[in-house]
Amino acid sequence: MVRLDKFLCDSGVGTRSQVKGILKAGRVTVGGAVEKDGSRKFDPEDLEVCCDGERLGGAKRIVVLLHKPAGYVTATEDPVEKTVMEVLPPQYRDLKPVGRLDKATEGLLLFTNDGDLLHRLISPKKEVPKVYYARHEGTAGEADVAAFAQGLTLRDGTVCRSAVLEPMGPGESRVTVCEGKYHQVRRMMASRNMTVTYLRRDKEGDLCLGDLPLGACRELTEAEIAELAQF
Ligand code: URA
Repeated sequence: MVRLDKFLCDSGVGTRSQVKGILKAGRVTVGGAVEKDGSRKFDPEDLEVCCDGERLGGAKRIVVLLHKPAGYVTATEDPVEKTVMEVLPPQYRDLKPVGRLDKATEGLLLFTNDGDLLHRLISPKKEVPKVYYARHEGTAGEADVAAFAQGLTLRDGTVCRSAVLEPMGPGESRVTVCEGKYHQVRRMMASRNMTVTYLRRDKEGDLCLGDLPLGACRELTEAEIAELAQF
């Protein structure tokens, strides 16, 4: 945690007394809200500070897209399991995962050092659509498509929002959901007697996994981050 006035001085905004005036004039925002109190303490990793609308200090905002392999849990540390952090190259190991994929699930997983963006993307209020490819027992039919569209009730009584099920052939489907309940796709499919045997996330918002090889990652461009931040 750092004091806002010290952070502003260290970022080159001005001297201590100039910073006082700048704060008083309402030219500084912390996490998007005007802040006039220089003694306010905050975590620069978590909140973005702007002066006259321009972002100050801190590390460059990075978002990394990983093609997660199966066998890794989504956590920054775990006493027993291998974590997704072990798949990332060392220079990205300070980033935080955005949401989660199950240990057995492969596919698109984002990481960022931008706390604001992270919270926005995982907020249940944001309906960021996520597209999964599933291989499963049985074959999806019209009644299953309708049940997904209506909003499924899982075996434990949990009610899901409307989702899109697209049968792709025997034992293969595409599923689009706008929420992130625990084991959601697997449980939705199980509730229709289609046990999932393989699951991969192919898309989040407008971002696609594309042909990124399994276990590889890439940094998003500023344009891709801006598009993502719209959700
Ligand atoms: N739904 C699941 O069941 N598992 C995931 O990892 C993601 C969505």
